[in-house]
Amino acid sequence: MNILITGGNGYIGSHACLVLQQAGHGVVSLDNLSNSRADVAERVARISGRPLRLVEGDVRDRELLERVLRQEKIEAVFHFAGLKAVGESVSRPLRYYDCNVGGAVALCRAMAAAAVKVLVFSSSATVYGEPARMPVAEDCPLGEPTNPYGRSKLMIEQILADLSRADPSWRIARLRYFNPVGAHESGLIGEDPSGEPANLMPYVAQVAAGKRESLQVFGTDYPTADGTGVRDYIHVMDLVEGHLAALEYLRRHPGLLTVNLGTGRGLSVLEMAETFARVSGRPVPYRVTARRPGDVAACWADPALAQRLLGWRAQRSVEDMCRDTWRWVSGGVGGARE
Ligand code: NAD
Ligand code: UFG
Repeated sequence: MNILITGGNGYIGSHACLVLQQAGHGVVSLDNLSNSRADVAERVARISGRPLRLVEGDVRDRELLERVLRQEKIEAVFHFAGLKAVGESVSRPLRYYDCNVGGAVALCRAMAAAAVKVLVFSSSATVYGEPARMPVAEDCPLGEPTNPYGRSKLMIEQILADLSRADPSWRIARLRYFNPVGAHESGLIGEDPSGEPANLMPYVAQVAAGKRESLQVFGTDYPTADGTGVRDYIHVMDLVEGHLAALEYLRRHPGLLTVNLGTGRGLSVLEMAETFARVSGRPVPYRVTARRPGDVAACWADPALAQRLLGWRAQRSVEDMCRDTWRWVSGGVGGARE
């Protein structure tokens, strides 16, 4: 198939481009490079051995999208493009709604005009809010996300459900990611946060690399085994393989698919820091600070539906996640950006 990857130069999108190319699909990345670099497409091409076309542009540019969809004979779209910094979304909500919600609407309108009706969308476990039960299954009541970023994901999910109801010939997957981490094992692509990382794994990696003094552990008074927050970290390669499985499912089943992509395992902040230190052979000093506002105590997936419907489950261990992140960060390419 010919597949358009919006945000294809970003962290998850670049790994998706690679896996899709390796599965034999034709892939085009569309990215405005607001949070990524143009040479990512070249690095993906180095690994896959196939050229990766990058269209530099904005997902809100409906005319451009329609043109690309037609010219490249696109048959399916993976929509990763968007803004994802939770803290910034609180101070700049309009920027987030414009880019995330406006971007999704513009994309769907361009797809409808070009009669491309297969869409895989990056949603998030954030739509569950403070989960009503654990592990979190897809039929858990959706919660109240605590920030505009989370609400933008929930709004897009609702828009896609409305679209599917209005025109059942669409084939739409809403994939709810838990906590994507890790990098491709080549060390050539990975997460490249600008400035101070907001998320645990890239922060831990920079502490191990000596770029930051110590990790701040946001609270040790949660009702969890060691008092720190518990999350379901999933290797980015497992995550994008889940997208491939979702695409195969959509080819057989029209309609709306909603699945969690997680491992089903919860890991605490301290367990993550200890594992990273062991795997990298570098110390990860930490100090305890107050809870971060808006954080939930624990959140991990029930991945059973993905296994049943898609025949997919995460394969890689926490050690793999740490090892591949370390190779990326210590190998000179990752973390190069300040
Ligand atoms: P990322 O920032 O690395 O990638 C997003 C890419 O989209 C970047 O390359 C950026 O330049 C591009 N982009 C942003 N706005 C754009 C626009 N208007 N037009 C064109 N390109 C644009 O983020 P990521 O971690 O790869 O996340 C990908 C998607 O997955 C996002 O939608 C994010 O909300 C979602 N998601 C991520 C996580 C996570 O923890 N990384 C968790 C849940 C969901
Ligand atoms: N944490 C620290 N110190 C840090 C960073 C994080 O202790 O420097 C802790 C957090 O308090 C939390 C855990 O590490 O307990 C994981 O935090 P992350 O920021 O890595 O991940 P979150 O689960 O908070 O956020 C993720 C995605 C968001 C999404 C959210 C809800 O990054 O995009 O899940 O699904 F909105």
